[in-house]
Amino acid sequence: MLVKKIKEKADQMDGQQVKVQGWVRTNRKSKNVAFLELNDGSCFSNLQVVYTPQMEGFEEASKITTGSAIEVEGRIVLTPESKQPLELQAEKITVLGMADHDYPLQKKRASFEYMREIPHIRPRANTYYAMFRLRSHLAMAIHRFFQDRGFVYVHTPELTGNDAEGAGQVFTVTTRDDQKWEEDFFGKHAQLTVSGQLHVEPFAQTFRNVYTFGPTFRAENSNTTRHAAEFWMIEPEMAFADLSDNMDVIEEMVKYCINYVLEHAPEEMAFFEKQIDHDCVNRIKAVAASEFKRMPYTEAIAELEKAKGQFENNNIYWGMDLESEHERYICEKLVNGPVFLTDYPEDIKAFYMKQNEDGKTVAACDLLVPYVGELVGGSQREENYDKLKARMDELGMEESTLQWYLDLRRWGGCVHSGFGLGFDRMLMYLSGVQNIRDVQPYPRTPRNMIF
Ligand code: 4AD
Ligand code: MG
Repeated sequence: MLVKKIKEKADQMDGQQVKVQGWVRTNRKSKNVAFLELNDGSCFSNLQVVYTPQMEGFEEASKITTGSAIEVEGRIVLTPESKQPLELQAEKITVLGMADHDYPLQKKRASFEYMREIPHIRPRANTYYAMFRLRSHLAMAIHRFFQDRGFVYVHTPELTGNDAEGAGQVFTVTTRDDQKWEEDFFGKHAQLTVSGQLHVEPFAQTFRNVYTFGPTFRAENSNTTRHAAEFWMIEPEMAFADLSDNMDVIEEMVKYCINYVLEHAPEEMAFFEKQIDHDCVNRIKAVAASEFKRMPYTEAIAELEKAKGQFENNNIYWGMDLESEHERYICEKLVNGPVFLTDYPEDIKAFYMKQNEDGKTVAACDLLVPYVGELVGGSQREENYDKLKARMDELGMEESTLQWYLDLRRWGGCVHSGFGLGFDRMLMYLSGVQNIRDVQPYPRTPRNMIF
């Protein structure tokens, strides 16, 4: 029986005979009784197993090491007076797979750095155990949110022949070592995708509201706590939606995800609140109840100019690409919560963004949140063929690989918008975990790819 089921049905379980399997978290013996904490993966909390010298095999059981896989048969006893609501009084304990004594997760708390060296074992440590459950719940929250609103889920490709959208460096995919792309597998230069957006736009022009949700790859050599070379992104795209509609959806989505994880992962969130970030639950509850501010880039620059002297880089000017210290100042000091920055200078944004009337800004919106910085990047897209083409020419872009994208503007093009939510960053934001390497099962960052 799953421990989760036992706990859910606690009131009917008193005296019930059960058989459980799982892994030993701790096993300690005193003279007349021994306690073993068992986790079977079905829920965050452990099941306490109690056994006494009256049990056959008591001595052997007391030697079972941390990390071992076991099966226990016995009776459930309700223990309303103690810390846990019930325990399992063992009648038989069978070792299924004993852990050797060099099992890396002994009782003492290990550092995040150490844990990153053992990605095959760290899911069993509480922080990661909670995180990877949260990750699963958050993925479900995303799908629920969009599916409930009629969005169609589109699987955009990981392999692409598009020249990148200007988002960082790309990884080349090849079967050759001579860089002769014409003779390569696809007969052209192929890359791992940096974003599913361009491939999903045709589907928005078909199904109106769509989203992709998958891994994306960027070979940025920035060794920060918020960048990974492989990360998951949610990219919705909506026809007949402008920038303001786009921000409404982003805000609703973030709030939905917060409420979803508070409801579906309460034990995990309580763990993060206790062990990682004492403020995280209150913080996200406040965010779910708040109205997100919207501030044009130009106004943000004016605010940063007022705060000049407080930054490492105090060279503040209109047109600059904000660095993380500036973004943090805006959301942490100025607003103290999530804030949309809108209408950025066109030169620091992607080619496809809707050109504003002023001739120098584009209809972009980045959602900045405390401690994480940029959580979402989005925009209204340029739907005018001539303007889009002119911008691509101006940037000297290779148009042949993107003629299909331009053509969408000729065949039923319309006002449309979309955004990209960094899934891993959302996990950091919810949990207070500060390094992206600790929210991904197998993080890939510069000079780091452990199996
Ligand atoms: O702002 P970005 O580059 O936007 C796009 O890729 C657009 N095509 C999205 C769209 O409009 N459909 O990336 C979107 C988000 C960022 O706000 C950030 O949260 C996350 O993706 N992100 C990263 N997360 C982890 N590691 C990295 N290297 C990331 N780069 C971006
Ligand atoms: Mg961005």
